[in-house]
Amino acid sequence: MKIETDFLVLGSGIAGLSYALKVADYGKVIIVSKNDIHETNTNYAQGGIASVTAQTDNFEKHINDTIIAGSGVNNPEVVRMVVESGPAQIKQLIDWGVNFDIEDDGSYSLAREGGHSEGRILHCKDYTGKEIQQTLIDRVKENPNITILESHFAIDILTQHHLGKVIKRNTPNIECFGAYVIDLDSRTILTILAKRTMIATGGIGSIYQTTTNPTVATGDGIAMVYRAKGQIENMEFMQFHPTSLYDPNTRPSFLISEAMRGYGAVLKNRYMEEFMHKYDDRLSLAPRDIVARAIDHELKAKGHDFVYLDVTHKDAEETKKRFPNIYKRCLEKGIDITKDLIPVVPAAHYACGGIKVDINGQSTIKNLFAAGEVASTGLHGANRLASNSLLEGIVYADRAAKHSINNIEQDKVCENIPDWDKSGTSWPEERVLITQSYKELQMILNSYVGIVRSNLRLERALRRMEIIYQETEELYKKSILSKKLCELRNMINVGFLIIKMAQKRKESCGLHYSLDYPEKRNDKKKSQ
Ligand code: FAD
Ligand code: SIN
Repeated sequence: MKIETDFLVLGSGIAGLSYALKVADYGKVIIVSKNDIHETNTNYAQGGIASVTAQTDNFEKHINDTIIAGSGVNNPEVVRMVVESGPAQIKQLIDWGVNFDIEDDGSYSLAREGGHSEGRILHCKDYTGKEIQQTLIDRVKENPNITILESHFAIDILTQHHLGKVIKRNTPNIECFGAYVIDLDSRTILTILAKRTMIATGGIGSIYQTTTNPTVATGDGIAMVYRAKGQIENMEFMQFHPTSLYDPNTRPSFLISEAMRGYGAVLKNRYMEEFMHKYDDRLSLAPRDIVARAIDHELKAKGHDFVYLDVTHKDAEETKKRFPNIYKRCLEKGIDITKDLIPVVPAAHYACGGIKVDINGQSTIKNLFAAGEVASTGLHGANRLASNSLLEGIVYADRAAKHSINNIEQDKVCENIPDWDKSGTSWPEERVLITQSYKELQMILNSYVGIVRSNLRLERALRRMEIIYQETEELYKKSILSKKLCELRNMINVGFLIIKMAQKRKESCGLHYSLDYPEKRNDKKKSQ
C-alpha cells in the first residue's frame, strides 16, 4: 500500500518531534514511531539540557568544555554553531511550554555535570526528558498537518536500489524517496513516499547487555542508512554512563543522574574509600570516559560488582526535592538515598557516532536528513559532554528543517517505487532463533567491546558476530518480517560497525580505550 507525504519523520524523540513541528507549516508530515510515541531515550533524560544562560558563563567556556571532553576530535565550526544556537532553542522549548526549574530570584536553576566548568544545565527536577517529551507530543497532536503512526516500524529507506539500479558506496547522487514501514498491528508493509525523509531514530544502547537506554534503542536508523550506502562514522565512540543503579535483574538499568555528583554526591569503593583522586583532579566530576574507566578499573582490581555513590551527607529534604524520581525509584528497591549508599555500575548510554551529516543535518544521501543521537554531526568528537545531546538534537532539527523546506512545493515524490515483495517467506518456526541471538550479541558487545578494549577482544567479538550474522541473514531471507528480527539484523550491523571502526583506530582516544595502545591521543599531544 502506498502513502504520499511531503515530510517523513522516523522517530518521535526530541529531534523527530521538533523537526516535525518546524516543517509542518510547509507541508504534510508523517511521524513514524515503532512503539508508543512516548517511548524514546528523550523521555528518560534526567540531568537536563546544556546551554549558556548564567551571567558568569559564556559561549567560549561551553565551547572549550565540549572540545576538551571530545579530545579535540570535534569539528570546531559545529561546536560553535551548536553552542551559540543554544539560547534561541531553549527559548523555543519554553515557548512550546517546557517548564524549566526556576530559583526564588527568578533565574534558571542550573545544575553542574561532569566536564562542565560552569553550572549550565537547565532542568526540570530529575525528569527533564519527560517534561520535554510530553510538551512536544502535546504540540504535535494539536497540529493538523501532522499524522502520527505509532507501532509502525521503519524497515529500510527507499533509494534508486528499489528502482532496480545497482548502488554502491561510491555511487554519486544516491537519493532517498521515503521508507518501507511495517504496521505492527495489521502486519501490512506500507510504502511511504516522501519528498524529504528525516531519520531521528535515536541511539543504540540495546546492543549492550547493560544499558540505560530503553529497548527501542537498537540502532535501526544507522543500519538502514548503512545498507542504503550512506556514510557512517565515529561508531567506536560509545559512551558508558558511570552511574547506573546496580540491579542485574532489571533492564534497562536505571540511571543515577550525573547531576547528583554535581550536587555533591561522591563515588566510593565497597570499603567506603573515595578513589577518584587516583584518576583525575576533577574527582567525581571528571568527564564520563574518565570516571567510567576509573570505576571499571576499581571493580576489576578489587573483584567487586559495583561501587557506591554517597549523597547521605547532603540535606535530606533538599535531596528529595531535587531528585524526586531517583529518590522514589531507589526507595522501591529498598534504598533510601538520604541514608543509604547507592550501588552503581557503568552502563552503555550514548552513541557519539552515527550517520554523517553536514552542518544542515543533510546526510550523504540526497533528501535524507538525520538529527539527534542517530547523527554524527561533529559536535561530540571522541566523547560527548554531559547534557549536550538534547541540545544537539533540537539545534540540528532546526537546521535540517530550515534546509529541507527549500523547493518543497516544486519537488515531486517518486511514484515508481514498487511495494514490498514478501513472496517466498513464512513465519520463523521458533522465536528462540531470534531471542537467543539477541542475547548472545549483547553479551559479546558487553564483554569484548565495552569500556576497555584490546586487539584480541575485538577479534574474538568479530569471529562470534560472524556466526550470528550468517544465521540471521539466512533467517531474514525466508521469514515474514517481524520487529524483533529486523532489530536483530540492525543490531548486528551496528555491532560490526563499532568493531570495525574500533579496529581501525590504532590509539586510545576519548571513549575508545585500547590496552594495546594505552597512550592517549591527548597524552601524545602533551609530550610533543
Ligand atoms: P530518541 O529520543 O531516542 O527517539 C528515537 C525514536 O525513534 C523513538 O521514537 C523510537 O521509537 C524511534 N525509532 C527507532 N527506530 C525506529 C524504527 N525502525 N522505526 C520507527 N521508529 C523508530 N541527554 C542530555 O542531553 N541530557 C540528559 O539529561 C540526558 N539524560 C539521559 C538519560 C537516559 C536514561 C538516557 C537513556 C539518555 C539520556 N540522554 C541525555 C541522552 C538523550 O536522552 C538522547 O541522546 C536524546 O534524547 C535522543 O533523542 P532523539 O530524538 O535522537 O532519539
Ligand atoms: C545524566 O543525567 O547524568 C545524563 C546526562 C546525559 O546523558 O547527558
